[in-house]
Amino acid sequence: MSANVSHTPLLRVEGLQVAYGHIEAVKGIDFELREGEITALVGANGAGKSTTLMALSGLVKPRAGRFLFEGQDLGQLKPHERVARGIVQVAEGRAMLTTLTVRENLELGAYSRPGRKAAAGELERIFELFPRLKERLDGYAGNLSGGEQQMLAIGRALMAKPRVLLLDEPSMGLAPIVVQEIFRTLVSINRSGLTILLVEQNVRQALRIASQAYVLETGRIVLQGNGRALLDDPKVQAAYLGG
Ligand SMILES: Nc1ncnc2c1ncn2[C@@H]1O[C@H](COP(=O)(O)OP(=O)(O)O)[C@@H](O)[C@H]1O
Ligand SMILES: [Mg+2]
Repeated sequence: MSANVSHTPLLRVEGLQVAYGHIEAVKGIDFELREGEITALVGANGAGKSTTLMALSGLVKPRAGRFLFEGQDLGQLKPHERVARGIVQVAEGRAMLTTLTVRENLELGAYSRPGRKAAAGELERIFELFPRLKERLDGYAGNLSGGEQQMLAIGRALMAKPRVLLLDEPSMGLAPIVVQEIFRTLVSINRSGLTILLVEQNVRQALRIASQAYVLETGRIVLQGNGRALLDDPKVQAAYLGG
């Protein structure tokens, strides 16, 4: 980033604190997403990554903090109202509606944004990204492989026409080759202009594709910077990359 260019963030979180009873899961964090970029939030199990995403989606109520989207505080909005603004979290791959077909799952994604119906053009775009979903369009989601279910989950979220796509560990439980494929697709979706917040325990893969990244440890951000630069950081290597 050159010093004389000012980036107004699309989304900014200030002083976010979330607690479950006496457990302080997120202890006052600040971060921002620049429009059109992939931002990664990485860290070990229990660091507070999912809690942070749930706070953005409106699924947990923060104890403190502000959530600004295009400069507007959306902290009081209900989950469906945030979706309507374009803040869309990808469901967990395994949480696809297994007794519905691939097509029905995708159509549900479109309906998750009020007043919308699936347009044929959107389905075509998703088939370009995930040709296998097209082949299996009338099959039950429950018969898909883990990787295909993750693709369907992403496709369903895209049907809601997000402005920001939030993903919680899309690599979880998938074979390395499938993870590569999912991450390649995220890069391709991002190149088409979509802003992405990627939460990952797979630190290496996430930092490879992120322009900005934050490292979360027990509810606090301990490092931040360019994804590639963090990959080369000795502290990150020692703690997360087995270096
Ligand atoms: N529903 C819950 N009730 C109580 N504690 C929780 C709950 N969900 C998460 N936690 C705790 O909050 C902390 C952060 O969890 P989480 O956000 O799931 O981390 P991550 O996604 O990075 O693994 C952990 O200590 C976890 O045990
Ligand atoms: Mg988690």
